[in-house]
Amino acid sequence: MVNKVIIPAAGLGTRLFPATKEQPKEMLPIFANSSNGGMSVKPVVQLVFEQLHEAGLREFCFIVGRGKRGIEDHFTPDADCVRNLEGLGKNCQASDLEGFYEKLNTSTVVWVNQPEAKGFGNAVLMAEPFVQNERCLVHAGDSSIISQDMDYLERLLGAYERFDADAAFIVLEIENPRQYGIVEGDEVEAGVFRVRRVVEKPEKPATNLAIMAMYVFHPVIFKALKETEPGKNGEIQLTDAIQKLVDWGLKVYAVKLDNGYAHLDIGSPERYWEALELSYSQFCKGAAV
Ligand code: UTP
Repeated sequence: MVNKVIIPAAGLGTRLFPATKEQPKEMLPIFANSSNGGMSVKPVVQLVFEQLHEAGLREFCFIVGRGKRGIEDHFTPDADCVRNLEGLGKNCQASDLEGFYEKLNTSTVVWVNQPEAKGFGNAVLMAEPFVQNERCLVHAGDSSIISQDMDYLERLLGAYERFDADAAFIVLEIENPRQYGIVEGDEVEAGVFRVRRVVEKPEKPATNLAIMAMYVFHPVIFKALKETEPGKNGEIQLTDAIQKLVDWGLKVYAVKLDNGYAHLDIGSPERYWEALELSYSQFCKGAAV
C-alpha cells in the first residue's frame, strides 16, 4: 500500500519565462469542466492533486521554493471566498472551490522547501523526512496523464505490487523522445518492462519509451539519490538515481500506457499549447457554455 505522495513544484520554469518569472509555473491554467457541466480553468497543480485524491491518496508533500507562495495560498481553503461567491449568486464557482477544499480538508498537506533548484532528483530527496521508511509516489507538479477512465495510477501501483518492485514508473511511446528520460528493458508481461537501462535526455534515444514523471519507490531511492552526482544540466537527475537502483540489482519496472493515454505537460511553450488543446478536448468539448 502506498500512502505518501511527493509533488515537486520548486523548479524555476525558465522555459516559460517571462510568464513564470514571478508566478509558479504549476499555477498556470489548463481547461477543466465545472460542476454545472460548463467550462472552467484551473491550475495544473490542482488537477494533479485532485487526480491523486480521486485515486485514494491523502498524504501529500509539495516541494516548493522561492516564488512558490501562490501554490500554498491556493491550497489553503478560503471559506470567506466561497461565502462571498454564494452571496453574489456565483454558485458554480462557489461549488467548484468547495469541491477542491473538501479534498484538501480530507488530506494532510506538508510543504517542504528546496533551498536551490538543483534538479528533480534533489527535490525528491528533500521529502525524505516526510516519507521516512515508507513507499512513496512521486508525481511532477506540472504534468499529468489524461485518459477516459483515468486508471493510470491503478496500473502503476498494480504493477509495483505484482512484481514486488523497488521502483516502477509510467512510460509512453513518444515519436521524438529526446527531451525525456528513455528506458531500455525486457517485456515481462504485456506493457510491463523490467528495466535494464535508463538515460536522461539522450542525443540518440535507443527506444521510444519515454519516462513520464509518475513513479512509485521503495525508500531505497533516497540512498540512491544521496549517491547521485549532478548529471544533465548540472542537476541531480532522478533518472540517474533510478539507474543506480538497476546497477544495484534491484527490481525496476516501466509500465507502458497505450495510445488511449496522453501526456499533459506545460513545461515549454509548445507543450503548454498542446496541454491547452488536450485539456480542452478532454474536459470541455460539448460543455454547456
Ligand atoms: P522541469 O524539469 O520542467 O524543470 O521540472 P523546471 O526547472 O521547472 O523548468 P525549466 O527547465 O527551468 O523550464 C519538472 C517538475 O519538477 C519540479 C518543477 O517545479 C516541475 O514541477 N522541479 C524541478 C523541482 O521541484 N525542483 C527542481 O530543482 C527542478
